Amino acid sequence: MYICICHGVTDKKIAQAIDDGATSMRELSKELGVGTQCGKCTNCTKKILNEKLIEI
Ligand code: FES
Repeated sequence: MYICICHGVTDKKIAQAIDDGATSMRELSKELGVGTQCGKCTNCTKKILNEKLIEI
């Protein structure tokens, strides 16, 4: 599922970036561009981040 339409980023890509070591919204923004344009994906990305970090 696409989370960030502006940059064509899927939930899988976000999950992969977290598995690869990203631990903050800032890192995900830098790596994937999420939240850097319209910002609509920010909340959803944060939710994925928090859920994944709990798993780790
Ligand atoms: Fe991610 Fe617009 S949907 S910045």
